[in-house]
Amino acid sequence: MSAIKAEIKGIGINIPQRVLTNKDLEKFLDTSDEWITTRTGIKERHIAEEWEKASDVALPAAKEAIENAGLTPRDIDAVIVATSTPDMTFPSTACFLADKLGCPKPMAFDISAACSGFIYGLTIANSFVKSGQFENVLVVGAEVFSQIIDWNDRSTAVIFGDGAGAVVVSKSDGESDILSAVMKSDGSHWGSLYCPVGEKLRMRGRETFKLAIKSMEMASNKALQQAGLQIEDIKIIIPHQANIRIINALAERMELPEDKVYSNIHKYGNTSAASIPIAFYEAWKEGKISKGDYILLTAFGGGLTWGSIVLKF
Ligand code: COA
Repeated sequence: MSAIKAEIKGIGINIPQRVLTNKDLEKFLDTSDEWITTRTGIKERHIAEEWEKASDVALPAAKEAIENAGLTPRDIDAVIVATSTPDMTFPSTACFLADKLGCPKPMAFDISAACSGFIYGLTIANSFVKSGQFENVLVVGAEVFSQIIDWNDRSTAVIFGDGAGAVVVSKSDGESDILSAVMKSDGSHWGSLYCPVGEKLRMRGRETFKLAIKSMEMASNKALQQAGLQIEDIKIIIPHQANIRIINALAERMELPEDKVYSNIHKYGNTSAASIPIAFYEAWKEGKISKGDYILLTAFGGGLTWGSIVLKF
């Protein structure tokens, strides 16, 4: 194990202003607030402006995270953006973001791991810092799913939303550390959730539902084991915000009271790679996370991809 510790030193978010409620969706889709609320827990989601790209939505979140870390863009050695809705096929959204931030020539690249993208990114940042390669790595989950949604498809249009969340992962001088990371994929299930290049997102909801719970539970137990901790040691679980029924089922299988599992899905829907950093930020702002707490992050998404991280904040 590396003697270097890696901590989340700063965190920031950006939520587009425009709100799309379930009632708004009722106006152009054969759906209802009642169906969406009971099946998903979602009441509203935020939608970026048409001109806004992932790097635009990411920028205020990244600025806040860097400032919150007590750093400036000049201190950032690497920029990693997890997104399924990049500005372009190339250059990477990370290159655009680094330029907008004014980071002087950092390593910059995107990760394509759908809704697991942020925790994949955090795992990579952790390894960069622990290897001694970099001191400060910016990891951003940024999505404009509204731009790949088929707004005539009620089975997906009600689920997703836009937003961004960012963290700075830095060399830690104290006790804070990213303790374990279990990242997995299984491409044989690609057809459950996918988006061909230049086309719209497609999903087989039921299939995804069952696989999500099982995979997140298995990865979480393994990450706990690798960190040498029990579930009782964890202050709060921050799961990917895909569906409140998935989150509640995970809590039940892991024998956790619901108040130990954070959710803000009612406000934002599924913001894919942005959902964990947004939830982390809000849990922290609400005083549910304090310095020294053990936190479990877990996500699941297209690929299929999934994974869990245990960290000491
Ligand atoms: N409004 C009203 N009815 C809808 C609807 C909507 N927005 N979307 C689907 N329906 C209908 C279906 O057409 C179906 O009707 P039928 O019985 O007449 O055929 C019925 O509701 C049930 O559909 P089903 O897909 O079986 O519902 P469900 O209970 O599985 O819930 C999801 C659908 C999508 C909410 C649920 O499967 C889910 O959340 N899956 C996980 C998806 C996910 O999280 N993906 C991202 C992972 S990162």
